[in-house]
Amino acid sequence: MQRKHVRVLADSSFNTRLGWTFGDSESDPHMVVHLPEAKPHELPRPETHSYPTQFAQHWNLKNNTPAIIRAICSSDETLLAQFHEKLSERSVYLRYFSLIPLSQRVAHEQLTRTCLVDDREFALVAVLGHEGSAEREIVGLGQISKQSVPNEVEWGLVVADEYQNQGLGTRLCDCLLKISRSVGAQRVMAMVLPENHVMRVIARRLGFKLEWDLEEHAMRATLVL
Ligand SMILES: CC(C)(COP(=O)(O)OP(=O)(O)OC[C@H]1O[C@@H](n2cnc3c(N)ncnc32)[C@H](O)[C@@H]1OP(=O)(O)O)[C@@H](O)C(=O)NCCC(=O)NCCS
Repeated sequence: MQRKHVRVLADSSFNTRLGWTFGDSESDPHMVVHLPEAKPHELPRPETHSYPTQFAQHWNLKNNTPAIIRAICSSDETLLAQFHEKLSERSVYLRYFSLIPLSQRVAHEQLTRTCLVDDREFALVAVLGHEGSAEREIVGLGQISKQSVPNEVEWGLVVADEYQNQGLGTRLCDCLLKISRSVGAQRVMAMVLPENHVMRVIARRLGFKLEWDLEEHAMRATLVL
Protein backbone atom coordinates (compact mmCIF):
# COMPACT_ATOMS: atom_id res chain seq x y z
CA MET A 1 0.00 0.00 0.00
CA GLN A 2 1.41 3.36 -1.04
CA ARG A 3 1.02 6.06 1.58
CA LYS A 4 1.02 9.61 0.29
CA HIS A 5 3.77 10.65 2.67
CA VAL A 6 5.15 9.70 6.03
CA ARG A 7 4.24 11.74 9.06
CA VAL A 8 7.14 14.12 9.29
CA LEU A 9 9.54 14.33 12.21
CA ALA A 10 9.55 18.09 11.93
CA ASP A 11 7.66 19.75 9.14
CA SER A 12 10.00 21.67 6.89
CA SER A 13 7.21 22.40 4.41
CA PHE A 14 5.34 24.65 6.77
CA ASN A 15 4.89 27.90 4.98
CA THR A 16 3.12 30.38 7.15
CA ARG A 17 4.82 32.76 9.48
CA LEU A 18 2.15 33.12 12.13
CA GLY A 19 3.53 33.11 15.62
CA TRP A 20 2.44 31.02 18.60
CA THR A 21 1.01 33.12 21.36
CA PHE A 22 0.92 31.14 24.55
CA GLY A 23 -1.89 32.68 26.55
CA ASP A 24 -0.46 35.82 28.11
CA SER A 25 3.21 35.15 27.25
CA GLU A 26 4.87 37.93 25.29
CA SER A 27 6.51 37.43 21.94
CA ASP A 28 9.80 39.03 21.11
CA PRO A 29 9.65 39.78 17.40
CA HIS A 30 12.75 40.79 15.52
CA MET A 31 13.50 41.49 11.89
CA VAL A 32 15.64 39.23 9.71
CA VAL A 33 16.37 40.14 6.08
CA HIS A 34 16.84 37.36 3.53
CA LEU A 35 17.80 37.41 -0.12
CA PRO A 36 14.73 37.07 -2.33
CA GLU A 37 16.08 33.84 -3.85
CA ALA A 38 16.24 32.14 -0.43
CA LYS A 39 14.23 28.92 -0.43
CA PRO A 40 11.78 28.26 2.42
CA HIS A 41 13.96 25.50 3.89
CA GLU A 42 16.95 27.89 3.95
CA LEU A 43 15.16 30.39 6.12
CA PRO A 44 16.14 30.23 9.77
CA ARG A 45 13.54 29.42 12.38
CA PRO A 46 14.10 32.12 14.95
CA GLU A 47 13.09 31.42 18.51
CA THR A 48 10.53 34.15 19.03
CA HIS A 49 9.55 33.25 22.55
CA SER A 50 11.13 33.00 25.86
CA TYR A 51 11.07 29.41 27.17
CA PRO A 52 7.43 28.58 27.96
CA THR A 53 7.73 27.51 31.60
CA GLN A 54 3.95 27.55 32.08
CA PHE A 55 3.57 24.02 30.73
CA ALA A 56 5.87 22.37 33.27
CA GLN A 57 4.11 20.02 35.64
CA HIS A 58 4.89 17.12 37.94
CA TRP A 59 2.86 14.01 37.33
CA ASN A 60 3.07 10.33 38.31
CA LEU A 61 2.76 7.38 35.95
CA LYS A 62 0.22 4.71 36.92
CA ASN A 63 3.02 2.77 38.60
CA ASN A 64 3.79 5.90 40.68
CA THR A 65 7.02 6.79 38.90
CA PRO A 66 7.33 10.58 39.12
CA ALA A 67 7.70 12.42 35.83
CA ILE A 68 7.95 16.00 34.73
CA ILE A 69 6.11 17.12 31.63
CA ARG A 70 7.53 20.30 30.19
CA ALA A 71 8.29 22.13 26.97
CA ILE A 72 11.29 20.76 25.13
CA CYS A 73 14.48 22.82 25.20
CA SER A 74 17.67 22.93 23.15
CA SER A 75 19.69 21.04 25.78
CA ASP A 76 17.39 18.00 25.41
CA GLU A 77 19.14 16.87 22.22
CA THR A 78 21.16 14.04 23.81
CA LEU A 79 18.22 12.76 25.84
CA LEU A 80 16.03 12.87 22.76
CA ALA A 81 18.57 10.83 20.78
CA GLN A 82 18.59 8.24 23.59
CA PHE A 83 14.79 8.19 23.52
CA HIS A 84 14.82 7.45 19.79
CA GLU A 85 17.44 4.72 20.25
CA LYS A 86 15.09 2.80 22.53
CA LEU A 87 11.91 3.06 20.44
CA SER A 88 10.73 -0.22 18.96
CA GLU A 89 10.16 -0.49 15.23
CA ARG A 90 6.45 -0.80 15.91
CA SER A 91 6.33 2.48 17.82
CA VAL A 92 8.37 4.24 15.13
CA TYR A 93 6.04 2.93 12.46
CA LEU A 94 2.86 3.88 14.33
CA ARG A 95 4.17 7.38 14.96
CA TYR A 96 5.82 8.21 11.64
CA PHE A 97 3.98 5.82 9.29
CA SER A 98 7.30 4.54 8.08
CA LEU A 99 10.34 2.83 9.57
CA ILE A 100 12.44 5.97 9.54
CA PRO A 101 15.98 4.77 10.27
CA LEU A 102 17.51 5.69 13.60
CA SER A 103 20.35 7.53 11.84
CA GLN A 104 17.78 9.86 10.30
CA ARG A 105 15.80 10.31 13.51
CA VAL A 106 18.88 11.24 15.53
CA ALA A 107 20.61 13.33 12.86
CA HIS A 108 21.84 16.52 14.50
CA GLU A 109 19.77 18.77 12.24
CA GLN A 110 16.65 16.75 12.98
CA LEU A 111 17.15 16.80 16.75
CA THR A 112 17.90 20.51 16.69
CA ARG A 113 14.66 21.18 14.87
CA THR A 114 12.61 19.11 17.29
CA CYS A 115 14.25 20.73 20.32
CA LEU A 116 13.50 24.22 19.08
CA VAL A 117 10.24 25.82 20.17
CA ASP A 118 9.48 28.23 17.38
CA ASP A 119 6.71 29.79 15.35
CA ARG A 120 5.75 26.55 13.66
CA GLU A 121 6.45 23.70 16.00
CA PHE A 122 6.21 23.03 19.64
CA ALA A 123 7.07 19.93 21.60
CA LEU A 124 6.51 18.63 25.10
CA VAL A 125 8.65 15.98 26.72
CA ALA A 126 7.96 13.73 29.68
CA VAL A 127 11.15 13.30 31.68
CA LEU A 128 11.98 10.84 34.45
CA GLY A 129 14.70 11.67 36.98
CA HIS A 130 15.75 14.96 38.50
CA GLU A 131 16.71 17.84 36.26
CA GLY A 132 20.51 17.88 36.04
CA SER A 133 20.97 14.26 37.14
CA ALA A 134 22.75 11.75 34.90
CA GLU A 135 19.81 9.34 35.14
CA ARG A 136 17.37 11.62 33.40
CA GLU A 137 15.39 9.99 30.65
CA ILE A 138 12.87 11.26 28.12
CA VAL A 139 9.98 8.79 28.02
CA GLY A 140 7.42 10.69 25.99
CA LEU A 141 7.33 13.25 23.19
CA GLY A 142 4.25 15.20 22.14
CA GLN A 143 4.48 17.53 19.17
CA ILE A 144 2.21 20.21 17.76
CA SER A 145 2.73 21.81 14.41
CA LYS A 146 0.79 24.45 12.62
CA GLN A 147 -0.76 23.46 9.35
CA SER A 148 -1.44 25.32 6.14
CA VAL A 149 -5.12 25.13 7.10
CA PRO A 150 -5.68 28.29 9.14
CA ASN A 151 -6.26 27.78 12.87
CA GLU A 152 -5.54 24.06 12.65
CA VAL A 153 -2.75 22.27 14.46
CA GLU A 154 -1.51 18.73 13.97
CA TRP A 155 -0.47 16.50 16.85
CA GLY A 156 1.96 13.65 16.97
CA LEU A 157 3.04 11.73 20.02
CA VAL A 158 5.06 8.75 21.04
CA VAL A 159 5.76 7.14 24.39
CA ALA A 160 8.80 4.94 25.12
CA ASP A 161 7.75 1.30 24.80
CA GLU A 162 8.73 0.49 28.38
CA TYR A 163 6.40 3.22 29.67
CA GLN A 164 3.37 2.67 27.47
CA ASN A 165 0.03 1.88 29.13
CA GLN A 166 1.00 3.99 32.14
CA GLY A 167 -1.35 6.84 31.31
CA LEU A 168 1.37 8.98 29.78
CA GLY A 169 -0.07 9.14 26.26
CA THR A 170 -3.39 10.29 27.66
CA ARG A 171 -1.67 12.86 29.86
CA LEU A 172 0.39 14.20 26.96
CA CYS A 173 -2.81 14.55 24.94
CA ASP A 174 -4.42 16.51 27.78
CA CYS A 175 -1.43 18.84 27.79
CA LEU A 176 -1.42 19.19 24.00
CA LEU A 177 -5.10 20.02 24.18
CA LYS A 178 -4.49 22.83 26.67
CA ILE A 179 -1.67 24.19 24.56
CA SER A 180 -3.72 24.00 21.37
CA ARG A 181 -6.47 25.98 23.07
CA SER A 182 -4.02 28.47 24.52
CA VAL A 183 -2.57 29.26 21.08
CA GLY A 184 -6.05 29.87 19.71
CA ALA A 185 -6.30 26.79 17.51
CA GLN A 186 -9.85 25.98 16.47
CA ARG A 187 -9.20 22.47 15.22
CA VAL A 188 -6.80 19.69 16.09
CA MET A 189 -5.87 17.01 13.61
CA ALA A 190 -3.90 13.81 14.04
CA MET A 191 -3.31 11.04 11.54
CA VAL A 192 -3.67 7.58 13.05
CA LEU A 193 -2.96 4.23 11.40
CA PRO A 194 -5.98 1.91 11.40
CA GLU A 195 -4.10 -0.75 13.39
CA ASN A 196 -3.29 1.77 16.12
CA HIS A 197 -6.05 0.69 18.52
CA VAL A 198 -4.54 2.45 21.51
CA MET A 199 -4.39 5.84 19.81
CA ARG A 200 -7.86 5.38 18.42
CA VAL A 201 -9.16 4.67 21.92
CA ILE A 202 -7.44 7.76 23.32
CA ALA A 203 -8.63 9.97 20.45
CA ARG A 204 -12.25 8.79 20.81
CA ARG A 205 -12.18 9.41 24.55
CA LEU A 206 -11.04 12.97 23.90
CA GLY A 207 -13.93 13.49 21.50
CA PHE A 208 -12.03 13.27 18.21
CA LYS A 209 -13.97 12.26 15.15
CA LEU A 210 -12.17 9.54 13.22
CA GLU A 211 -12.60 9.25 9.48
CA TRP A 212 -10.83 7.23 6.83
CA ASP A 213 -8.53 9.40 4.72
CA LEU A 214 -8.29 7.93 1.22
CA GLU A 215 -5.16 9.83 0.27
CA GLU A 216 -3.20 9.03 3.41
CA HIS A 217 -4.54 5.48 3.83
CA ALA A 218 -5.01 6.27 7.49
CA MET A 219 -7.57 7.58 9.94
CA ARG A 220 -7.85 11.34 10.15
CA ALA A 221 -8.75 12.26 13.73
CA THR A 222 -10.18 15.74 14.12
CA LEU A 223 -11.39 17.65 17.10
CA VAL A 224 -13.13 21.00 16.90
CA LEU A 225 -12.12 23.08 19.92
C1 LIG B 1 -0.32 5.72 21.34
C2 LIG B 1 0.54 5.99 22.59
C3 LIG B 1 1.12 7.40 22.49
C4 LIG B 1 -0.35 5.88 23.82
O1 LIG B 1 0.42 6.14 24.94
P1 LIG B 1 0.22 5.29 26.28
O2 LIG B 1 0.99 5.98 27.33
O3 LIG B 1 0.55 3.87 26.02
O4 LIG B 1 -1.34 5.43 26.50
P2 LIG B 1 -2.17 5.44 27.87
O5 LIG B 1 -1.52 4.55 28.86
O6 LIG B 1 -2.44 6.82 28.26
O7 LIG B 1 -3.58 4.85 27.41
C5 LIG B 1 -3.67 3.69 26.71
C6 LIG B 1 -5.09 3.16 26.85
O8 LIG B 1 -5.32 2.23 25.78
C7 LIG B 1 -5.75 0.98 26.34
N1 LIG B 1 -5.24 -0.06 25.49
C8 LIG B 1 -4.03 -0.65 25.51
N2 LIG B 1 -3.94 -1.56 24.54
C9 LIG B 1 -5.13 -1.56 23.88
C10 LIG B 1 -5.64 -2.26 22.75
N3 LIG B 1 -4.92 -3.16 22.11
N4 LIG B 1 -6.89 -1.96 22.34
C11 LIG B 1 -7.63 -1.04 22.94
N5 LIG B 1 -7.19 -0.32 24.03
C12 LIG B 1 -5.95 -0.58 24.47
C13 LIG B 1 -5.11 0.94 27.70
O9 LIG B 1 -5.80 0.06 28.53
C14 LIG B 1 -5.26 2.38 28.14
O10 LIG B 1 -6.54 2.66 28.63
P3 LIG B 1 -6.80 2.87 30.22
O11 LIG B 1 -6.15 4.18 30.55
O12 LIG B 1 -8.28 2.92 30.35
O13 LIG B 1 -6.14 1.72 30.89
C15 LIG B 1 1.67 4.94 22.71
O14 LIG B 1 1.11 3.65 22.72
C16 LIG B 1 2.71 5.04 21.61
O15 LIG B 1 3.67 5.78 21.74
N6 LIG B 1 2.49 4.31 20.51
C17 LIG B 1 3.42 4.36 19.39
C18 LIG B 1 3.36 5.70 18.66
C19 LIG B 1 1.96 6.08 18.31
O16 LIG B 1 1.11 5.23 18.05
N7 LIG B 1 1.68 7.39 18.26
C20 LIG B 1 0.38 7.91 17.92
C21 LIG B 1 0.36 8.40 16.52
S1 LIG B 1 -0.10 10.11 16.50
